[in-house]
Amino acid sequence: MQWHILGAGAIGLLWAAKFQRTGFNTTLLLRNPAKLATYRGTFTIVESSIQESPTQKAQQSSQIAVPAQALDAPDCGLIHNLLITTKSYDSLSAFNSIRHRLADNARILLLHNGMGPQQAIAEQNPQLQVWAGSTTDGAYLNSAFELIRAGHGHTRIGRLNDPQDQSLSNQLISCEQALSHSPDIHATLWQKLAINCAINPLTAIYQCRNGELSSHAEYRAHMQIICHEVEQVASHLQTPLFDQPLIDQACLVAEQTANNYSSMYQDVIHQRRSEIETITGYLCQQAAKHKIPVPENQRLYEQIIRLQA
Ligand code: PAF
Repeated sequence: MQWHILGAGAIGLLWAAKFQRTGFNTTLLLRNPAKLATYRGTFTIVESSIQESPTQKAQQSSQIAVPAQALDAPDCGLIHNLLITTKSYDSLSAFNSIRHRLADNARILLLHNGMGPQQAIAEQNPQLQVWAGSTTDGAYLNSAFELIRAGHGHTRIGRLNDPQDQSLSNQLISCEQALSHSPDIHATLWQKLAINCAINPLTAIYQCRNGELSSHAEYRAHMQIICHEVEQVASHLQTPLFDQPLIDQACLVAEQTANNYSSMYQDVIHQRRSEIETITGYLCQQAAKHKIPVPENQRLYEQIIRLQA
């Protein structure tokens, strides 16, 4: 199978490694000419390998050979399978920049936080097979082409414009066993959105690790208000979230990732644009559309926009 990957960040390179190891013919699409010029055709992945006893872990470093090309490289054939792993605020423009190279019935898989771009691409391109996913894989870049696989998570994917279709989920299990088909990808994306609304902006504002949100009474009380508003919107849209209240689920995720700094914390600290528009911003848009008051989420949204400016 042939795959093109747009977005050579941590998740993009992680999937490039999974595809390459499965024997898929994989190509990285690099938008930044300076980055493309420094790429030597391979990248490094550092991962933990379980030794004789499960408690004994060793770091293992491997070289992954995957070719890369510019978006407008001449004489490149049509793209049949495209994985987009850019930041959520970039994915629509990234998609539009490669649109002309897509085969008529190409498959697009979007793997990023937040909501909005996936739905826009699916609505505007009914002839394409548009898939979206949510992952708890942990990976980060040490440098442009050195990937650290921090944790093995689970990925759920589903087709936005035909939820019954399981074809891609069945195919991708060959390169990632911890992948399952989501028969309701809309609800799966909402679950991830709800957790991100609960955790990400607060960690950026309080400048804390995820775990402190559940262990610190004042932060937890704040998170409770956020969660209550998110639940009001999800319930109005008849989107099921979790079997337990969102605050309990958010505390569980915060505890499971207690030592991590959330992606939004890191973006704000490093003065990068964050994904607030497609996380809390998306929630606020949906709330406004249905006239549901979400004052605390609105306040957080404005606070993060000010912080990142
Ligand atoms: O965006 C993130 O950092 C993660 O999605 C989450 C769930 C907050 C855990 O760190």
